[in-house]
Amino acid sequence: MKAVAVLPGKPNSVHLREVPVPKLTDQPHPHVCRIPEGRAVLVKVLQVGVDATDREINEALYGNAPPGGEHLIIGHECFGQVLEVGEKVTEVKPGDYVSCTVRRPGGSLFDRIGRNDITSEEVYYERGINLCHGFLTEFFVDDAEYLVTVPKGLKHLGVLAEPASVCAKAIEQAFLAQQRLQVWEPRRAFVMGSGQIGLLATMMLKLRRMEVHTLATTPGPHRKSEIVEAYGATYVSTRQISITELARRVGKPDLIFEATGHPEVCFRSMEVLAHNGALIWTSITGGHQEVSLDAAKINLEWVLGNKLLVASVNGNRRHFELGLQALSQGELTYPGVTQRILTHPVSGLDRYKEMMRLLEEKEALKVLVNV
Ligand SMILES: NC(=O)c1ccc[n+]([C@@H]2O[C@H](COP(=O)([O-])OP(=O)(O)OC[C@H]3O[C@@H](n4cnc5c(N)ncnc54)[C@H](OP(=O)(O)O)[C@@H]3O)[C@@H](O)[C@H]2O)c1
Repeated sequence: MKAVAVLPGKPNSVHLREVPVPKLTDQPHPHVCRIPEGRAVLVKVLQVGVDATDREINEALYGNAPPGGEHLIIGHECFGQVLEVGEKVTEVKPGDYVSCTVRRPGGSLFDRIGRNDITSEEVYYERGINLCHGFLTEFFVDDAEYLVTVPKGLKHLGVLAEPASVCAKAIEQAFLAQQRLQVWEPRRAFVMGSGQIGLLATMMLKLRRMEVHTLATTPGPHRKSEIVEAYGATYVSTRQISITELARRVGKPDLIFEATGHPEVCFRSMEVLAHNGALIWTSITGGHQEVSLDAAKINLEWVLGNKLLVASVNGNRRHFELGLQALSQGELTYPGVTQRILTHPVSGLDRYKEMMRLLEEKEALKVLVNV
């Protein structure tokens, strides 16, 4: 079968290769964890979403092949259909639509209690990213534990299960941490960034009945601003109104969801958070950037205002399920809006070069491969 792979460490090595079709008895990542007897599921891949992570792996900025091999099959945002299940699998059956989680457990206490999304180990084992093959291929096998059922009525959005899990987990983490306040009823949220993460976060915060302002650089109207407004939020271009000015006009936000990939925005967001508020960081920032800030003022306001910073990455099966619930509720509340995120479908694995090229295009909000 075909697979899209890179040679980790070698820039621009993305290529199509032939790999064996997996069998139900295979162990896809024996160096990390083994599928218990009878618990394997064989999945036919239907769609795979790609993002900056895939581009950066192809630029050899990170990513490693599974031990004993030279290539890494990329792709970590998967949507597929179950073909075959082991005799001890009760959760899914052939024909079901599924997504699959990304991280596999290492050896920390958190991994051992099923919270590999918050592993305390430095090395991550992530399908399509590091040390485990990904989903940009025709079929894969994994443990039923890591498969998530996508409702039939949501199959047109199934490929967003992974990014939705990231947003759902980050928001849930903030609400869990805010239990320190005994009561927290956030009314106003700023979402920094209107990429796929910012847009899905906008939807999830609107579903929690908040007044949401989503900020990004490019002045509207355009597709992203239209999606923000269709969710009932307001779109603000930071070229027209700064975050400080927005906070002055509408009031300080109780919650900020940061997803720009821009390190300065992560820290500038600290300047406008309301008392008792929560700032969520999800951006994964590369390289080095120095920022000049009034650190004494921020520290003082944060201490006197009892403010909270929550950083969040990855998601386990429960977070995928929360993300899919939010996508379902979003589809009922804002019919047809979320599918507007899926802007650039590519037909077939052999068009992987076009897939990589589209990742560079500014208007490509979401690139996905119809396998
Ligand atoms: N924590 C996790 O588990 C996780 C998972 C997936 C992704 N991420 C990270 O989440 C971040 C967002 O991902 P994405 O795919 O949504 O990214 P994206 O498509 O690149 O979107 C970035 C958004 O931020 C806006 N932006 C950039 N610089 C800005 C600035 N200085 N001020 C205001 N807005 C700015 C952009 O504005 P324009 O639209 O005007 O260009 C765009 O809307 C990335 O850093 C990604 O690595 C984290």
